[in-house]
Amino acid sequence: MASNDKTTGAPRYADGAAHFELGEHTLKVPMSLHSENRQRLLKRLAKHKMTPRSVVLLQGGEDATRYSGDAEVIFHQEPYFHWAFGVLEPGFFGAIDVSSGRSVLFCPRLPAEYATWMGSITQPEDYRQRYQVDEVRYVDEMPEVLRGMTGTSGTLLTLRGVNTDSGKTTQEAAFDGISQFQVDNTFLHDEIAECRVTKTKAELEVLKFAATVSAAAHRTVMRQIRPGMKEYQLESIFQHHSYYHGGCRHQAYTNICGSGCNAAVLHYGHAGAPNDRTVNDGDMCLFDMGSEYYCYTSDITCSFPANGKFTEDQKAIYNAVLSASRAVMAAVRPGVSWVEMHRLSYRTMLTKLKEAGIVQGDLDEMMKVNLGAVFQPHGLGHLLGLDVHDVGGYLENNPPRPQIAGFRSLRTARVLEENMVLTIEPGCYFIDHLLDGALANPEQARFLVPEAIARFRGFGGVRIEDDIVVTADGMEDLAQGTIPRTVEEIEELMAEGQKEDIFIPQLHAQRKLGQ
Ligand code: GLY
Ligand code: MN
Ligand code: MN
Repeated sequence: MASNDKTTGAPRYADGAAHFELGEHTLKVPMSLHSENRQRLLKRLAKHKMTPRSVVLLQGGEDATRYSGDAEVIFHQEPYFHWAFGVLEPGFFGAIDVSSGRSVLFCPRLPAEYATWMGSITQPEDYRQRYQVDEVRYVDEMPEVLRGMTGTSGTLLTLRGVNTDSGKTTQEAAFDGISQFQVDNTFLHDEIAECRVTKTKAELEVLKFAATVSAAAHRTVMRQIRPGMKEYQLESIFQHHSYYHGGCRHQAYTNICGSGCNAAVLHYGHAGAPNDRTVNDGDMCLFDMGSEYYCYTSDITCSFPANGKFTEDQKAIYNAVLSASRAVMAAVRPGVSWVEMHRLSYRTMLTKLKEAGIVQGDLDEMMKVNLGAVFQPHGLGHLLGLDVHDVGGYLENNPPRPQIAGFRSLRTARVLEENMVLTIEPGCYFIDHLLDGALANPEQARFLVPEAIARFRGFGGVRIEDDIVVTADGMEDLAQGTIPRTVEEIEELMAEGQKEDIFIPQLHAQRKLGQ
């Protein structure tokens, strides 16, 4: 542990010992994670022709308030900036000298009254120690300091590129006086994005921590669920567990807590459907929740019966999805195409749905008409890291996005490499408009067993989502096998949980306007 300065509260570190942590029960992350990332970037940049004295310049995230009000939104660092520097605060810039690797952070010069409202002002030297860079200066000194780094002939390399999941463009560094510099924004984005696609050992440790915290939070939800609860109460158990026990202040994405028919709504939980249904006895639940630690995300889905005991129909769908997940896990290794893994998951799931009497006919013919996309319209999984749908899925020279249903939702079509981190998340859903479309399409309708399809309408769906890292000869589960996955494991855990007394809040008396 670092000691803290008595008056400023700033952590004091012995050389090389700077790290992030929230307490002994959370993970200690060394700042060397970021210097290693910077070194990796410089290695990749070396193949580009650049003017001498080129400097990478990144801009960190800014503070925001809610619309025109002054209530602050909890700050979240911009992921590329976090990757390179690990700075927790808003308003920073960071520069890296390409030839020497020298790193300089620029912090905001805060007004004296900041100390009254926000606590003592951290000095540049404290930031230098905390973030283990070579120098820290103020943002208003950037023109002068950067001119010293580039000289008259050097170039600032800035980040400009489009995120292929959101369609949004990255924030390119801009500061008063940048017009006096030569700027090149043509290649930095793809090079950092490519670095982010494969994770270092230090990054894998953080991702494992986030995944194991999420896994434990999911287990708690499974133990504490009781029919009659609201979906959002289960969401809150997850959030509490991951923050209280794991120090995860942020969730990696909007929690999806679908019960019954809501389990077939792929992005349920949004503002218009805020996990507000009552969970009924007999429902399947599909809970897709992932905590985030030190900006590194997890993305885990557990599907289970609300009452802890699978019906035969629930078991059939669950096991079809589990088989697809296991088949992919057994096949994943460097060199395999993610598109082929998606195809494998469809084939495995359809094989099991056929055994369960839900589809019929020849497997190869089903695959030819892409029947899998009727049941699983989303992609098999995606890269995972500082963004839950992590960057680098479709960089230049990567395989292009496939065009047919299901496959086109893949967030990458790349060939797998060691140290890529991905989710494996096959699913099977009964979505009325997709079923209606397939029944109206003679090519697909012939494979559907109409009575079975009718029986499963309103069932919802099942997704099983794990976070994995590709290893030299296969893969490793980032949650280290701590998520109950088989029907037996789930039923056993839930039966244990049902023996425990849990606190169920009394309903607040409902008041109606005017009463
Ligand atoms: N939770 C979002 C996803 O699974 O991709
Ligand atoms: Mn996912
Ligand atoms: Mn998910």
